[in-house]
Amino acid sequence: MKRAKIAGTGSYVPENVVTNDDLAKRFTTSDEWIQERSGIRERRYFTPGKDTVAGMGVQAARIAIERAGIEVEDIDFIIFATLNPDYMFPGSAVLVQRELGLNAKAVPSLDIRTQCTGFIYGLSIAEQFIKTGQYKNILLIGSEIHSSGLDFSDAGRDVTVLFGDGAGAAIIQPSEDENKGILTTHLHADGEHAERLAVLAPSGSKPRHLTHEMIDDRSIYPVMNGRYVFKFAVEKFPEVIHEALQATGYKPEDIDMLIPHQANLRISEAVRKIMGLPEEKVHNNIQRYGNTTAASIPIALHEAIEMGKIKEGDLVCLAAFGSGFTWGSALIRW
Ligand code: UT7
Repeated sequence: MKRAKIAGTGSYVPENVVTNDDLAKRFTTSDEWIQERSGIRERRYFTPGKDTVAGMGVQAARIAIERAGIEVEDIDFIIFATLNPDYMFPGSAVLVQRELGLNAKAVPSLDIRTQCTGFIYGLSIAEQFIKTGQYKNILLIGSEIHSSGLDFSDAGRDVTVLFGDGAGAAIIQPSEDENKGILTTHLHADGEHAERLAVLAPSGSKPRHLTHEMIDDRSIYPVMNGRYVFKFAVEKFPEVIHEALQATGYKPEDIDMLIPHQANLRISEAVRKIMGLPEEKVHNNIQRYGNTTAASIPIALHEAIEMGKIKEGDLVCLAAFGSGFTWGSALIRW
């Protein structure tokens, strides 16, 4: 079986920069509180009428396609991860397919909903299809517009300050060199905690899936038990990174670059210390983009590559934790 590799990456963030001070004009918060608790200085918000969830994904995808040295027509499978799709149905993968003109070839297009772990789940799915030889150029996208669904009142301030909009993409191909590429992926979930980080409405299980009451009682907005999520994340990130290391016989010190899902700079720092990694071996950009959920790993990965922080032969670890709860890791020989 052929090993899978990431052949190219891309990212897109909307141009509209929203600082902590901008948020402090809309509800009771401060730059100091946000930076101290999360490390975030600013995030991007989409421009309605210009940016869409699928469209931002396409922008990131075009860069990934170019970096991989392939043509759009070479793509034979699309995987799209988001928690806020353009429509309730169909998913956004078919919108990407149409925008790229791949509908003429009826390229299969799959949406996945595993929130902050979306990119890792998507990477693992892509890896399996590459290994079996079914597909040869898989486009994997993580794209999020959070700002249209956030609660800009004091009631939602704990969640609202954390999230930003953006998209990242990768092309997954068979590796010609059997020693290079994705060495292992590990996926987990624990539905016991489903409502601890969730948006509960609209809901297909209510008599009407969207009502005025849902808007009035704010159940259309994300709810989060922040402290609970924080503790769980700090436990699960190292656990799932160790799982990947054990599966491949590597040690923490063998990791050249860790790209953690950008949930909170304090979480990333805690994980870095638990893993015993120096600062230069962990790439963070949450300071500028906030938490972009499924997009955060591909945005950070693309940035690290473009900055020359990831070189051929490096051992790269990706790890994520988020709503579900879901968590996962991937270890890649670059
Ligand atoms: O991918 C996973 C996504 N989620 C996460 O990673 C979130 C993980 N959790 C966290 O990052 C942290 O729990 C938060 C940053 C969300 C919150 O930090 P915290 O230290 O757990 O604060 P807290 O929720 O316990 O709130 C402390 C205080 C409260 O006031 P009182 O009760 O002490 O008077 C909050 O009402 O801070 C208040 N507060 C705020 N103050 C200013 C909550 N949000 C804000 C805000 N600005 N935005």
